[in-house]
Amino acid sequence: MEGSEVHFIDQRYLPHEDKLYIARTTEEVAYAISDMVVRGAPAIGVAAAYGMAQAAMINDGGLPEAGEQLKATRPTAHDLFFAVDHMITAIKDGQGPDAASKDYADSITERCERIGIHGEQLVPYDGRILTHCNAGALATVLWGTALSPIYKAFEAGKDPFVYVDETRPRLQGARLTAYELHDAGVRCSIISDNAAGHYMLRGEVDLCIVGADRISRNGDVANKIGTYEKAVVARDNDIPFYVAAPTSTYDPSLADGLAIPIEERSQDEVLIVRGNPIGPKGVGALNPAFDVTPARLVTGYITEHGVLAADELESRLADF
Ligand code: MRU
Repeated sequence: MEGSEVHFIDQRYLPHEDKLYIARTTEEVAYAISDMVVRGAPAIGVAAAYGMAQAAMINDGGLPEAGEQLKATRPTAHDLFFAVDHMITAIKDGQGPDAASKDYADSITERCERIGIHGEQLVPYDGRILTHCNAGALATVLWGTALSPIYKAFEAGKDPFVYVDETRPRLQGARLTAYELHDAGVRCSIISDNAAGHYMLRGEVDLCIVGADRISRNGDVANKIGTYEKAVVARDNDIPFYVAAPTSTYDPSLADGLAIPIEERSQDEVLIVRGNPIGPKGVGALNPAFDVTPARLVTGYITEHGVLAADELESRLADF
C-alpha cells in the first residue's frame, strides 16, 4: 500500500504480461477481488484488509458499509470474511488502519512460511506431488499454502517434481502455478485436469497437496472445482491427500461442508476459450467455482500449528 493506493499484480494477464492494477478506493479493491485481479483465499483476505484500511482512512464510520461491499464480492473464501471482521476489531481497538492492514498481511506471510516448515517433512527427496489450482505465493502474499512445503523442500536441497493440474476453466494451474514453480526452479509439468487419475493409478504420484477456500468445523474442505475428484482418486490409490491452509481459512461456524456457499461464476468462463465459443450456439454451461472434499478423504491439514487431524482443528485453530 502506498498512501491510499493498493498495488496488485494483475493475475488476469499472467504469465504472458506483467501488469499492475492500482486500486485507489475500496470499490476498486472490491472490483479487483470479484474480477480475479487478485485471487486465492489468503490473498483475497489481505486485499480486503487493505480495502478496509482505505475506507478507515477516509472515515472510521464507513467501515461497516465497506465491509459489506467487500464481503459481497466472492462468497466462498472464508479469509475474506475473516479479514474484514479482523480489521473492524483492530481499528475499533485503536490500531491505525495502515498498521492493521500491514500486520494482517505480515501475519499471513508468516503463517504460510510455517505451513511450509511443517509440510516440508512430508515431501520425499525426489517426491512427485500433484496440486490443483494455484495455492502459491500469488494466492497468498509469499510462500503460498500448498506450494509452501514444496518451496521449503526445494530450499532444503530436495528435488521435488510437481504435476500441475491445468485447472479449467480459469487455468490457475497452467497459468499461475506453473509460472511460479518454473520461476523458482522447481521441476513441474502441466497436465490436463483429466490426466491426474492416469498418473495416480500408475503409481507415479507420491502425494497430493492442495489449498483451501474454506474448511468447515468437521474438516470438510471447499477448494477449486475438481479438487474432490482428485481426493477420490488419491484414496482409491492409497495416495496421501493433504490440505494446506492457515487459521483464517477455518470456519468453525459451519458444521460441515454442505453449508459452505459455493460461488457460481459466469458461464462464459466455460463456453469461451481465448475469445472463441467452443460449444454449439444455444447450449449453456454450469460453472461452480469450488467443490467440497469430505474430511474422510483428507489425510491431514498442514497448518501454521503443525499437521493436524480433522478432530484437532477446532481446538488448535481456535485463535488467530
Ligand atoms: O478462484 P480462485 O482462483 O480464487 O480459487 C483459488 C483456490 O481454489 C485455491 O486453491 C485456494 O484459494 C487456496 S489459495 C492458497
